[in-house]
Amino acid sequence: MSEAVEYERIGDIAVLAANNPPVNALGVDVRRGLLAGIERAEAERAKAVLIYGKGRTYFAGADIREFGKPPQEPWLPGLCDRIEASPLLVVSALHGTALGGGLEVALSSHYRIAVPSAKVGLPEVNLGILPGAGGTQRLPRVAGVEAALDMITTGRHVRADEALKLGVIDKVQDGDPREIGLAYAQELLDSGAPRRAVGEMPAPDPVDFDAVYEAVLKKGRGQLSPAVAVRAVQAACEAPSFAEGMARERELFMQLMESDQRKGLIHAFFAERAVGKLPELKGVEPRPVHQIGVIGGGTMGAGIATAALLAGLPVTLLEMTQEAAHAAKDRIAGNLAGALKRGKISQQQHDAILSGQLQLATGYDALSAVDLVIEAVFEDIDVKKQVFAQLDAVCKPGAVLATNTSYLDVNEIAAATTRPQDVIGLHFFSPAHVMKLLEIVVADKTAPEVVATGFALGHRLKKVSVRAGVCDGFIGNRILSTYRTCADHMVLDGASPFQIDKALTDFGFAMGPFAVSDLAGLDIGWAVRKRKRAEGLDPRARDSSYADKLCEAGHFGQKTGKGFYVYEEGKRGGTPNPEVLDLIAADRAAQGITPRTFTDDEIVRRYMVSMVNEAAKVVGEGIARRPLDVDVVLLYGYGFPRYRGGPLKWADLQGLPGILDDIRAWSAEDDYFWQPAPLLEKLVAEGRSFDDLNKDAER
Ligand code: CAA
Repeated sequence: MSEAVEYERIGDIAVLAANNPPVNALGVDVRRGLLAGIERAEAERAKAVLIYGKGRTYFAGADIREFGKPPQEPWLPGLCDRIEASPLLVVSALHGTALGGGLEVALSSHYRIAVPSAKVGLPEVNLGILPGAGGTQRLPRVAGVEAALDMITTGRHVRADEALKLGVIDKVQDGDPREIGLAYAQELLDSGAPRRAVGEMPAPDPVDFDAVYEAVLKKGRGQLSPAVAVRAVQAACEAPSFAEGMARERELFMQLMESDQRKGLIHAFFAERAVGKLPELKGVEPRPVHQIGVIGGGTMGAGIATAALLAGLPVTLLEMTQEAAHAAKDRIAGNLAGALKRGKISQQQHDAILSGQLQLATGYDALSAVDLVIEAVFEDIDVKKQVFAQLDAVCKPGAVLATNTSYLDVNEIAAATTRPQDVIGLHFFSPAHVMKLLEIVVADKTAPEVVATGFALGHRLKKVSVRAGVCDGFIGNRILSTYRTCADHMVLDGASPFQIDKALTDFGFAMGPFAVSDLAGLDIGWAVRKRKRAEGLDPRARDSSYADKLCEAGHFGQKTGKGFYVYEEGKRGGTPNPEVLDLIAADRAAQGITPRTFTDDEIVRRYMVSMVNEAAKVVGEGIARRPLDVDVVLLYGYGFPRYRGGPLKWADLQGLPGILDDIRAWSAEDDYFWQPAPLLEKLVAEGRSFDDLNKDAER
């Protein structure tokens, strides 16, 4: 008997207990164990079989690590058919998360019981595939086509009570999965309940599948798996037999399994789990954090305070004046009202947070007892240094002193204190209570336990935290600055901002760069350009003035109703602002540029290659530890399409030699902007990929 599935006999019932921590993934050993268990139960003439998982969950799915490797028998679809075909009464008892292949094993059992906290779902589309072990054929037979389409195309986790209503499970009962499963199996035997195979149930009623396919494709912004899954559900209704429906599911599953989107999404799954695993933090204990301070109650400070309050942390918010403090409280109250509306918190939690967890202050002394303080004041190095000198004077020993700066030198800020080991960058993304990304910026003298505290805080705030080194813009904003510049160059050379935005949203970005600028506020980019010009631009760097002209006329994007686009009150999104084209034409004329046309493909290629090249510099300089750290930053902070895995996964899939060739060709036009990253040259010379570097780091 396999160790991954333990066999036990209790009277007439054979008990198969999966034991494959941490999540009982259905790897080959588990599949063999289940098959052997069913065969043994039949040979021993048991009357029923109970399947459950030891540890924290029933099967959480197929073993994702096996994807892309040669499959080993027994395959999951055949195993599910075998379980269903057993003449014995097969019962599954669910707890934790019965997901993907896990739910498919449950659906091939004849009866299903679950504890109230259990969740079920078919999240395969989020990995770029579809349920490939009968999920698209069996779920619609028990829950109906509409509910099945919803679960399969969104991949959402469904709570036990809802699953019961949908008919996905038969009974909900509190208790130990083994005990409730045994009692249920016995009850079914005692009552003479029939063997009940979902695959033998009649085909469900169809819906307008073409309409659903189109709607799902549109919603996915180019992601294929949810739309292809619709076709598999269609087969459940239309195929002449269950077996033929299964064959169609398999065919569509294999198509997706071979796709780059599958590779991108699985990379994203493991990358987001790898970012927090840093060798230097092994065994390092974070400092305890019970109370935090936030300095500055603008959009960013209020967002950070909201995120902390929602995670149950009391916050002391410091502002310069009573008035500003009240304005900050109003902002936080607005954020909390939003969280209440979206069902993230209850009315009671909302009221308790506002009345008891948030303190406002106007003097630094109020921060003397906090364990961690995050500064979110104006982006000016002298202002920040003054703030940190004050913090140094009042904060208790061991308090973590964090700056939310998005590009300033954290080493210089740390040097304004007598305790640089306690200083760190915690770079949140706006709105900070919504955006999942947190860059943890480690300065030269930051102590390891302070870094660990940053990661622990990120975990508590439900953020995806990525370690970054100190440089202008850290990982994300530094790369953004480069691909944004690339977009500006394309505008000067003949593309319109509107064509660029459209080409990039068609590629899968949530928004194009010009729409993003309008959302963030054009004044932000203006300030950065002014700063960079004041610092002295390299004479070889191209510059443009058209965006400055918009700002000079008071157009800052969405907040003023006009920027690259014109926004009307109450309407979502904007329409192209025609004045922009005149400003661009004037800029081109002043620079003596004759505009040329760009294809959408060329726009995407240049934009992406500029992003990859800067990302390779960021990794090569050690600002990001691994390529996957960059990928996660772009996925979680910059609207990069998840199904493409991140810029460096995209680069691997495109082929690095071609990317380097393009950079070299374009450097003939502009050898200042298009300087190949040494790391990219090295990888191409060695015939290696960014993923090889990720693997090196795992060892
Ligand atoms: N295969 C292999 N490893 C898996 C896994 C899977 N299906 N699911 C989780 N793991 C691993 C994680 O990588 C992680 O490993 P490390 O500790 O080494 O990082 C570990 O299990 C714990 O996972 P989490 O940190 O994510 O733990 P969590 O408690 O936050 O979440 C979970 C648990 C909800 C199960 C989450 O891991 C999850 O969503 N897993 C994926 C579920 C899924 O997509 N299942 C469908 C698989 S595809 C399929 O089944 C295809 C088919 O139809 C045949």
